[in-house]
Amino acid sequence: MKKRIAVLASGRGSNFQAIIDAIGAGTIPATCVALITDNPTAYAIERAEKAGIPVKVIDFRSFPSREAYERALLAAMQEARADLYVLAGYMRILGNEVVRAFPGKMVNIHPALLPSFTGLHAQRQAILHGVKVAGCTVHFVDESLDCGPIILQKCVPVLDGDDEDTLADRILEQEHTAFPEAVRLFCEDRLEIAGRTVRVRK
Ligand code: GAR
Repeated sequence: MKKRIAVLASGRGSNFQAIIDAIGAGTIPATCVALITDNPTAYAIERAEKAGIPVKVIDFRSFPSREAYERALLAAMQEARADLYVLAGYMRILGNEVVRAFPGKMVNIHPALLPSFTGLHAQRQAILHGVKVAGCTVHFVDESLDCGPIILQKCVPVLDGDDEDTLADRILEQEHTAFPEAVRLFCEDRLEIAGRTVRVRK
């Protein structure tokens, strides 16, 4: 049976688009039932509208407190009744209550080979550290920041003369295949979490 997925995105939404395209191509057995965004001007909204996906804007700035925002976000997520919540460039840290509401049902993509370079500006951190290999990680979301069980990773070389932007572009290309692949495996019921390890069933 097709899974219901809801995507959370804050900006450009190119990873969201990769997932829309993979659903459209029949690669991911799912229906995208909602885009939830904290940014009323996110380009991801246009992508959703083009694909006929309902949009819910939970604008952080329109709430009197972080708690009120979190409550509204949780309500929007519950209303989506998704089997999987996909964080595709959602740039706000989710509160523990939200994370705890969907155990094993939320995945995130991060533009670094975790556990290195968690948090913001991962590609800049990689350049500043002088690493020779960088990449992206798709992982389950738990209460730790960017440290939930890893589903898959893809790596790219860091080349002489790279800056944050050229490295980010090279990583992004890999994100666009890694994320749909991980979402597909979830939707095919092939992922099994055993402690920190995610096993992929054949
Ligand atoms: C992606 O590179 C994603 O890995 C990153 O934001 C970008 C969103 O691009 N996410 C994080 O840094 C999360 N900590 P997109 O809006 O074009 O998908």
